[in-house]
Parts: sequence; structure tokens; C-alpha cells
Amino acid sequence: MQQGRPVSHSQFSPFWPVFVDEIIPTWVKRTYSQKESWKSKPFTQQDAHFFYQGIEELSDLFTEERPSHMPAYFNHAKFRSSYLLYFLPLQAAKFTVLFEQHSLAMKAALEFAHQQDVYRVLDLGSGPGTASIALLLRLLQEKKPLPPIEFHWVDTNAAILKDGEELVAAIVEKNPKLKGKLTVRSYVGRWEKTQIDSGPPFALTLLGNVINEIPGASALEKQAAHRQLIKYFECTRGGGMLFVEPAAKLPSQGLSLLRNEFFESGILQEPTSLWGPCLHSGTCPMSEGRDWCHFSVPVQIPGNWFKRFSKGLGSERQWAKYSYLWLAATDHPAPAPKKTMRRVISDQLPGPLGKKALLLCEPNQVLRHPLPRHPKSSLRRGDLLDVGRPSQRGPTN
Ligand SMILES: C[S@@+](CC[C@H](N)C(=O)[O-])C[C@H]1O[C@@H](n2cnc3c(N)ncnc32)[C@H](O)[C@@H]1O
Repeated sequence: MQQGRPVSHSQFSPFWPVFVDEIIPTWVKRTYSQKESWKSKPFTQQDAHFFYQGIEELSDLFTEERPSHMPAYFNHAKFRSSYLLYFLPLQAAKFTVLFEQHSLAMKAALEFAHQQDVYRVLDLGSGPGTASIALLLRLLQEKKPLPPIEFHWVDTNAAILKDGEELVAAIVEKNPKLKGKLTVRSYVGRWEKTQIDSGPPFALTLLGNVINEIPGASALEKQAAHRQLIKYFECTRGGGMLFVEPAAKLPSQGLSLLRNEFFESGILQEPTSLWGPCLHSGTCPMSEGRDWCHFSVPVQIPGNWFKRFSKGLGSERQWAKYSYLWLAATDHPAPAPKKTMRRVISDQLPGPLGKKALLLCEPNQVLRHPLPRHPKSSLRRGDLLDVGRPSQRGPTN
């Protein structure tokens, strides 16, 4: 699938609407309503109104430039409940899009899990297990029987871990295919320092919107954190390690720097060391400067309550926006990209004489390239373009 192509309802699990329109609202109301008598009643527009305030406040916190130390928002019931109702589906949708785009990585993870007879997933800064839940909803669509699934969740906030565990139990309850198959092991603490139970290697390691929560760390703390990430990577096979961060400049460039460090450490060496988004192993040209590597994919996220909340925030969510980095496990490399293939890293830009251009990612530099004529004229951020022989390429930016 082309990176920037739309993701429709049909690419989400058929169980998704049940999860976001029934399980989450019912559970949130039962757990977080202020009055005992409300808890057993259906979730209504009045409840949506009540919980919306937290959604709005959290949205401001996440959208604005992150403070150097993020407040511990999950210490507050108001923010846990609003996260579950709105941000969990939103972030899970980004993982769903990436799982769809990198189906080969997902296949490698599942094959490895079958070989090990356990699908072991490490989810760092898991919150309510958002990334793992996106995976679980995808696995529900598998035709073959699933191996036992083990989620290992690490988060500093015990309450949000517990919320996630209960939501997962509700998913299992409604899916006989998962009965007796799934265990969640939660670790309360900082992922940089957590000792994970020993066992077979992970088939997939997931990090959603968590790297950007360490910007206030000192250089030494950051180095230690990066070393720890390398250790987690070394315990991962199959589908490798996926980081998803906000599309904003700071977190995206943080991810590019992290990518460069992985290459400098020698643990990644080839273009096949990455599932995406990069097609080369040179230095990322966007780890500093004006541009940054991020993506926006048209997406129809299912869910009636989700739609209402997003309209309340200003517009219906029709794009999944994120930056990401997907490292391929050493023994499960990604396919070698064609040498003349480039990743488009901008939308179409106006050029001289009305001609449009695109930015392409090259090792160490960003290249401005004329927009090819039809049939590629719909090319946009995230797509792949075969530039042919190097002499056909445009001037550097
Ligand atoms: C924005 S939330 C993302 C939650 C989830 N991964 C998602 O994508 O929805 C960030 C989470 O990271 C956790 N977190 C931040 N720094 C952490 C650290 N050093 N160790 C463990 N968890 C951390 C927070 O408690 C919070 O649950």
C-alpha cells in the first residue's frame, strides 16, 4: 500500500466500533461517574458533555509545545477518562494505519510468534495499552488460530495500566477466540529502569507517544535512555520495534536523532534495518533544520462518540498525523528497497512557472524534485517515487 493513501473504515477491525462505541464508554461511565446511580446507565450525550471538558484540556496540553517536564496528567481521573474516550481511539488509529502500511512487518511478527508459540509484545509507556490494543484488534481478523499472547506493559502510572487491563479483559470477554489466550503483565515504573520478566524474545516492541515525554532530561539521562532502548531492541525479533510520535517538529526531530544514534551504535547498518519510513541508512537529513519527517494519512476512524468529540475540538478527524520509526529486527530484515526509490517527504510545493515540486529524502540531504507528470501527479507526503537514473533528478534544495 502507498504510504499516503487513504485508510477507510473497512481497514479497521469490524470489532472497532464495538470497542469504541460500547466497551469504552460503558466502562468509563461505570468507573468514572461521580454518582453511584449513574454508573449502570447507558452512556448518553449528557455524559459526553461531562467528559468532554477533560478531552479539551488534554488536547490543549498535547497540542501546545510540550513543557520541559510533562505534568503527571494520568494522576487525575478526569484526564484518564478523557484519554480513554478520545485519545486511545485516536492513537490506536495511527498504529492501525502503520500496521496496514507495513503488513510485511506484521507478518514477520506473527510468524515469529507462531514459531515461539507465544506472541510476546513489549509496550513501553503503554498508558492504557493503546498500541497493544490496536494490535489485538488487528489480530482478531486473523483466520488462523492465534498463539498465546503476552502483553508486557510499562508505565509510570499504575491507574492507567489498570484501566487498560480492564478494557482488554472486556475485549476478551466478547471474543471467544481470545479466551484463555491473553495475559497482560504490567510494570509500574520508568521504562528506562524497568526489569522485564525473562522469557522468549518479543515478537514486537511498541512505543506510542512516549519518547517526546523526556525532553527535559539531561544529555546523560537521554544517553542512558537510548542505551536502554538499544537493549530492548536486542530482545526483539519478528516485527522489530515501532516508535510513533506526534507529527510536530520537536518529537519528529527527536526520533530522527534517535535513528541516527541507532546507526552510529552499529546495531543498525543497512537500509534493510528499517521497515520505514527511511529507504537509506545514511544520516537523516531532517534531524535538524527547517523540515522534519512526518506523515498525514487520510483516514476515516470509525466511532460515533469519537466523531462527536473530534467535531467538538474543531473539526472531524480526517487525517492521522504522526512521525514514526520502525526498526527491523536483526534476524528479520525488511526487503531491500530499490536503489532509485525515494520517499516523498512533503506535500506538493509550488515551483517556478506554475510547476510543482516535491521534497525527497536522500542520505544527508533533502532533494527538491519536479512533480512528475500524470499518472504520478497525485503524489503526496509519504508516497514512494522511483526517480530512475540519478541524472534525471532535480537540483538540490
Ligand atoms: C501520551 S501517553 C501515551 C500512552 C500510549 N502509549 C498511547 O499511545 O496512547 C504517554 C505515556 O507515557 C508514560 N510515560 C512517560 N514517561 C515514561 C517513562 N519514563 N516510563 C514509563 N512510562 C512513561 C505516561 O505515564 C503516559 O502513560
